[in-house]
Amino acid sequence: MNDDSSEPEDFGIDRPRAREFDDVAAKRFGRRFLLGAGAAFAGNVALDSAEAAPRKGGSTLAFREVPQVLDETHHVASGYRADVLVRWGDAVEKAAPAFDPARLDGAAQAKQFGYNCDFVAFMPLPRGSRSSSHGLLCVNHEYTNTELMFAGFKEPNNGATGLTRAQADVDQAAHGLSVVEIRKSGGRWRVVADSALSRRFTGGGTNFRLSGPVAGHARLETTADPSGTRVIGTLNNCAGGVTPWGTVLSGEENFNGYFIGDANKTPEAANHKRYGVSPWQNASWGRHFPRFDVEKEPNEPNRFGWIVEYDPYDPKSTPVKRTALGRFKHEGATCVVSADGRVAVYSGDDERFEYVYRFLTKGKYDPANRAKNRDLLDEGILSVARFDDDGTVVWLPLVFGQGPLTPANGFNSQAEILIEARRAGDLLGATPMDRPEDVEPNPLTGRVYVVMTYNDRRKAAGDPDARQRAHGANPRAGNRTGHIVEMIPPVSRASRPMHDADRFRWEIFLQAGNPAEADSGTQYGPGVTADGWLAAPDNIAFDPRGRIWIATDGMPTQGKPSFADGIWAADTAGPGRAVTKRFFATPRGAEMCGPAFTPDGRTLFVAVQHPGEERGSTYDTPSTRWPDFAPGVPPRPSVVAITEAGGGEIGS
Ligand code: FEO
Ligand code: CA
Ligand code: CA
Repeated sequence: MNDDSSEPEDFGIDRPRAREFDDVAAKRFGRRFLLGAGAAFAGNVALDSAEAAPRKGGSTLAFREVPQVLDETHHVASGYRADVLVRWGDAVEKAAPAFDPARLDGAAQAKQFGYNCDFVAFMPLPRGSRSSSHGLLCVNHEYTNTELMFAGFKEPNNGATGLTRAQADVDQAAHGLSVVEIRKSGGRWRVVADSALSRRFTGGGTNFRLSGPVAGHARLETTADPSGTRVIGTLNNCAGGVTPWGTVLSGEENFNGYFIGDANKTPEAANHKRYGVSPWQNASWGRHFPRFDVEKEPNEPNRFGWIVEYDPYDPKSTPVKRTALGRFKHEGATCVVSADGRVAVYSGDDERFEYVYRFLTKGKYDPANRAKNRDLLDEGILSVARFDDDGTVVWLPLVFGQGPLTPANGFNSQAEILIEARRAGDLLGATPMDRPEDVEPNPLTGRVYVVMTYNDRRKAAGDPDARQRAHGANPRAGNRTGHIVEMIPPVSRASRPMHDADRFRWEIFLQAGNPAEADSGTQYGPGVTADGWLAAPDNIAFDPRGRIWIATDGMPTQGKPSFADGIWAADTAGPGRAVTKRFFATPRGAEMCGPAFTPDGRTLFVAVQHPGEERGSTYDTPSTRWPDFAPGVPPRPSVVAITEAGGGEIGS
């Protein structure tokens, strides 16, 4: 999702990201790029890169850039294949009915691939191997575009009319997670049909267990669950991570937009206000399911906003919401084993002026005993980051009884601190950031990259509002294009990064935007081309050489001419440091998610989320019918597998 969502005006067709149907790219590049159905679905949609600039700046990345473009299909650097692997509505579980957009059905959708694919993890098969030709694709389905799913809608959720009960059933089933067994043969990836491992988790039909300090707390009790330990569904799963013991983490992000009713009339009024609980996104649900009406179930929102952990290798396992990691709008959660064997989990709270967090397990990771790691995430210390202008990151522990986190400030237990992690962070003086999205360690260097997508409300450095004014780690007022900060942990005597340290250093890695624009305030490595600049960085991944691959969500908000989102890559060290190069372009209206590499770095999976999400674009008149381009078939969010034509490493 592009924007933080506590305010209704930020969602839907009127939010700033809504894109015009301009034809700028077609004019620039010619109609030959508006490709038809067959070519797009079969992949091989490489732009003629005659206009792309040659390699510059000493980058180790050898591909020729995709030009900045905006059209109905996807494009990858020449010499690469980009094959659509799995689409919204494709079969996941056994006996899933065939996709029929004219007759969507909740029970069918619950067995089919969900909507708006976001985070992607590739989990090798067999478990514990480093296979790069067989595995489980684990995918988050963040939200839905009901105006592109159902005929007759004029706007998201059909405005005042709302969804029918049958449509709401489809909508809930299109949320959640998918586990899909995939195999590569003859150089092509394919979904394994009727796999016993393939599985759906949905927004309204899957049982989750709550664990950790908040499980069973009175503020999580509801009519359906007086124990406060079981939740039906997971919502708004944005990014995620993979644990060293082979489970998958998924962040519940904008959970606040699924509830009707007046939160001010509930005992949780202040808490719900801090998290922006209000009817703006899937406001129809509360009409059909009383638990999504806060006046009837004031505690229901407290059961979302957590990190979910699930074991993709055990299709019978119950997914768990790990409350020790705190409740906020989790973008994702990425793990790294620290020098002392404890596990650090980094997570951003994606909203303007929210915080960066680190959870540190109490126990140590045991590579020899998977079962011993099973509940590692239930005990540990959650900290929030303060970025000082002298280049220091200070980790501030959110621990009951320490500093201001006491009954005098309304905190009566550790559980209450975790439920209201944001307010605890306020009291500790954490640094409000420019919408922290992915926070991810580079496995080769230990440096942790914090991606700030943008914050157009950041005030000037001299502003009297200390919380909102520009400063070292968020240096640009009116930051419309985002930036990436590196956090640098100290190293042990054996030169291993100490992710458990109380203090790190920070540096700016890049400041995004178009360097050609006056006063853009951009910062890249030398030699970034007219196609190499990016805006609104969101998700990242590292290839086996430690290079960063950056997915964007908001290129077109740069005004006109507008360009597609996509993937850019850069070295993180050496002469090519922060020299970003465009590798992939999404179809119009989409944001770019994933990305994820196979262990050998020879396949890159990317998720095309919400193709066709633009002003006036509906099921009946979509701005693109990617990837099928078949009459009557709406656009379908899909995961794409990218490989090099000769089977080589991506980017080399
Ligand atoms: Fe769902 Fe923060 O992007
Ligand atoms: Ca996003
Ligand atoms: Ca995101």
